[in-house]
Amino acid sequence: MTITVTTGALGDVAADTHVVMLGPGTVRPAGDAAAADRAAGGAIAKMLSAGLFEGKAGEVAVLPVTGRGKAKRVVVLGLGEPAKRTLDTFRTQMGNLSRRLRDAGGGSVAVSLEALDHVEPEAAGEAIAEGFILGLYRFDKHHTKAADRPTKTVGEITVAAGSARRAAAIRRGVERGSIMAEAQNFARDLGNEPANLMTPTIMAARAQQLAAETGLECTIIERAEAERLKMGSYLSVANGSMQPPKFIVLHHRGGGPRARTIALVGKGITFDTGGISIKPAADMDAMKADMSGAAVVIGAIGAIARLKLPVNVMAVAPCTENMPSGSATKPGDVVYAMDGQSIEVINTDAEGRLVLADGIAYARANGASTIIDVATLTGAVRVALGTVRFGIFSNNDRLFGEIERAGEAAGEKMWRLPLDDEYGEQIKSPVADMKNTGGAPAGSITAAKFIQNFAGDTPWAHLDIAAIDMTPNEAGVNPRGNTGRPLRTLVHFVASRAS
Ligand code: BES
Ligand code: MN
Ligand code: ZN
Repeated sequence: MTITVTTGALGDVAADTHVVMLGPGTVRPAGDAAAADRAAGGAIAKMLSAGLFEGKAGEVAVLPVTGRGKAKRVVVLGLGEPAKRTLDTFRTQMGNLSRRLRDAGGGSVAVSLEALDHVEPEAAGEAIAEGFILGLYRFDKHHTKAADRPTKTVGEITVAAGSARRAAAIRRGVERGSIMAEAQNFARDLGNEPANLMTPTIMAARAQQLAAETGLECTIIERAEAERLKMGSYLSVANGSMQPPKFIVLHHRGGGPRARTIALVGKGITFDTGGISIKPAADMDAMKADMSGAAVVIGAIGAIARLKLPVNVMAVAPCTENMPSGSATKPGDVVYAMDGQSIEVINTDAEGRLVLADGIAYARANGASTIIDVATLTGAVRVALGTVRFGIFSNNDRLFGEIERAGEAAGEKMWRLPLDDEYGEQIKSPVADMKNTGGAPAGSITAAKFIQNFAGDTPWAHLDIAAIDMTPNEAGVNPRGNTGRPLRTLVHFVASRAS
């Protein structure tokens, strides 16, 4: 999808649909909205005086062009009360608008940002690109019937920016937002694909393909090499599977040989049956998305490469299935991670932390000075935070602050949860250095305490995304299915380290 930014007035842009925005209390449309009103034969002014359009947030009116005008239709979008207008609400409105435009017949669209005085132009450009590219995402490749694959689509998008200075800033934002949104759609594609079509082998191939496109360096660590590296914790999860495990490593060397390296580590369980501690049948299909963390870090480093951020970044994605079989790991087994620490596997369904242990140990052994892991780790985080915010844990207040600010810029919400030493008591093992479960209380925290053992004194943050990686109903920039969150938070964080 191409998004062009022009300096001219909206009325001068040839497009099927012209979009203007109005707040509450508008008596007479002005500027671009006045031109749109003339094209619609005065319908906007009539709607306003008749109280048929109030300018409420997200309100949409679709009007035919009756007079002279370059468009076939005019769409009026309500901006809502000035006090409640934020960057987030604007991004959400753009996401919802993108689908309304598609339903209204699609075609090319020109949007006037004239009335948008509450958002910085660059952030507005970013949000409009994200709104449209993310909002129009669909995963329908496996529908073979044409009726199940709607043909209507939004075509070329033009943003009428007003002044040349605003246009330049909006253009910068559009470029960054487009790169991040396309990367997020890439992550969504990986997450939405069923597990038979997104095996560790296929994930590795997709990572290699991305590397070829973006100039990233890609290494796939095969089982034999993982054995040589003593990744016993990661490999213990792969024991039950017929699919060969693939430990994916990507490097973006944007910061020069002496600069520090940020590691992004993502959980890559391409299907989680629970293993011998098998899960109930209900909703087990959702476990095809248990590699969302891996998809997000692979997508993020792709965006980081495309943005040419002057930072060294490493993405690490330990990928494997978690299956029961005659060769599967059994409850009570003791395994060793590559840093030498021993783990008693109490529950084979607590496998995410086992692959992250070696993912993080590998990142540290390979020079990471900051580590962020992303994982669909615990059902308990849904109980704690629901589907609104993801859980974040960190052994470093400064790092947490940086990630929180990145999340604010990206519009992805999080909430910090604690790592008190007392919680560590729950994962003490009588036979090994630690055990992989800590009982029902504080399930997300004990999982984080387990991972913390592998981060050591390296500044580290853990993002438990188990409740926000998928969404059952479309809203704002997120259609149904995999959301690709929190990819933009990671990219904003790395960008903040670049400046
Ligand atoms: N992948 C699951 C967590 C999950 C659950 C993600 C629901 C998304 C939706 C993880 O591997 C898991 O099974 N966790 C267990 C841990 C328990 C055995 C300590 C859980 O949360 O029940
Ligand atoms: Mn599990
Ligand atoms: Zn899992």
